[in-house]
Amino acid sequence: MKVTAFNGSPRCQNSNTNVIAETFLEGAAASGAETQNIFLFNKKIKHCTGCFTCWFKTPGRCVQDDEMEDLLGLYRTSDIVCFATPVYTWNMTACLKNFLDRLIPLKCPAVVSGNGHYDMQNSLRRMPDVVIISNAGFPGGGNFTTMREVMKTASPILEVYRNCGMLLQNKSDIAREKAKKYLAFVKQAGLEISSAGKVSQKVIDGLNMELMPDAEYIKFISGKA
Ligand SMILES: Cc1cc2nc3c(=O)[nH]c(=O)nc-3n(C[C@H](O)[C@H](O)[C@H](O)COP(=O)(O)O)c2cc1C
Repeated sequence: MKVTAFNGSPRCQNSNTNVIAETFLEGAAASGAETQNIFLFNKKIKHCTGCFTCWFKTPGRCVQDDEMEDLLGLYRTSDIVCFATPVYTWNMTACLKNFLDRLIPLKCPAVVSGNGHYDMQNSLRRMPDVVIISNAGFPGGGNFTTMREVMKTASPILEVYRNCGMLLQNKSDIAREKAKKYLAFVKQAGLEISSAGKVSQKVIDGLNMELMPDAEYIKFISGKA
């Protein structure tokens, strides 16, 4: 079992997203999985130019000469890929979106329908299962509306949406205690998904736990707590 996280936060190792992704991978590793954590911001990944050479002239191979070639190899050989990103302007970061666009060599020019939308057919016999990890700086659930809708197209086997994400690395006792409790569920999710392919309801409930009531969090991040 190979589990790979592709992290789209420009804050890389220091990101709140990485606190969740790294813990998720720790759980996967505890079940025996081979894990890798890729920081997309540090990779040279040019934009897709929409030339479709990877479909019609050199199937599966992009014309661009950059680090995406290696990442496509890693993607192809992973059993589970985790798309990790903070919410930026209601959606995933540009960094993750750019990476997802460059996955187009894994598709081929045949239209298929499913999940209420049309898409291009996958060129691989088996695509990796997808896990989504995201954190938002704001409280409430509305921050993830766009992301949920977009990520539906990847048919994820698990979605981890964490609001109040700025508490995850806050040094105060109250934030640390909450984060510790929450991250124990994240680790368990990594373990269960890589060993059983699904996550128990108890863990799902834990992943959706409140870190702090909205009003309190707003004061907290505004420095008024
Ligand atoms: C350019 C930018 C746009 C943002 N847009 C949103 C947003 O739309 N909704 C939200 O909840 N937080 C937003 N945030 C806050 C981030 O989601 C928050 O700081 C998050 O914890 C950063 O995660 P990271 O440490 O993994 O990068 C934004 C932050 C930046 C820098």
